[in-house]
Amino acid sequence: MQNKLEMIRQYAKEKLGSDRSGHDFYHVERVAKIASRLAEQEGVKDQAIIVAASYLHDVIDDKVVADVATEADELRIFLTDLGLSEGEIEEIFYIIENLSYSKELEAGKAQLSLAGQIVQDADRIDALGAIGILRTAYYGGHTQSPLYDPNVAPKRFTTKQAYREKSTVINHFYEKLFKLPETMNTLAGKEEAGKRKTFMEEFLKRFYEEWDI
Ligand code: ADP
Ligand code: NI
Repeated sequence: MQNKLEMIRQYAKEKLGSDRSGHDFYHVERVAKIASRLAEQEGVKDQAIIVAASYLHDVIDDKVVADVATEADELRIFLTDLGLSEGEIEEIFYIIENLSYSKELEAGKAQLSLAGQIVQDADRIDALGAIGILRTAYYGGHTQSPLYDPNVAPKRFTTKQAYREKSTVINHFYEKLFKLPETMNTLAGKEEAGKRKTFMEEFLKRFYEEWDI
């Protein structure tokens, strides 16, 4: 499996290498590392599906690729050619098609396996902390959103479409990011997410001080 995981890593690198929305290869590489650490803390012995799904979780995401169905077909063929079993492929697809926050807004929380729960936690942890702050600002630039507007209040979203409409970067902290710690599946994930949220709150305190100087 080690060799197969390296091939999967290379596939993700090829697909995400040129992403400029904050979902590049280094994002999925960090998610794989965070997920692997959470898996150890949860006592999971075989991490192959977790690592594979971490690398592939944004390869068929509508934020990142233009044609989701074509990318999904290509990925299925790639994994079949690599020699993964039908069951393994289904497990990976179920995880990467159901872990996203936007999906959860529409469909409610998916019943993920422990492997899926760990990848979801890892993806959400990488949306928080110092890296989370930068990724959010970077994504805001990508979608031509303002950094901040004191006259625009944060909203509550219930549909993916509304969630995808432009917001300010700072509002995104309240609209999504600060809600993430309570959605964590694992204890270790919740703890790390909480620490990162605290850092972001400190950052915002300074931000408002500087804004109102
Ligand atoms: P998911 O892939 O789970 O649906 P998102 O669509 O929220 O998650 O995208 C992941 C990351 O992209 C977020 O954590 C954030 O950094 C950035 N992002 C998404 N939407 C916005 C937004 N409206 N403003 C700023 N950043 C955003
Ligand atoms: Ni991601």
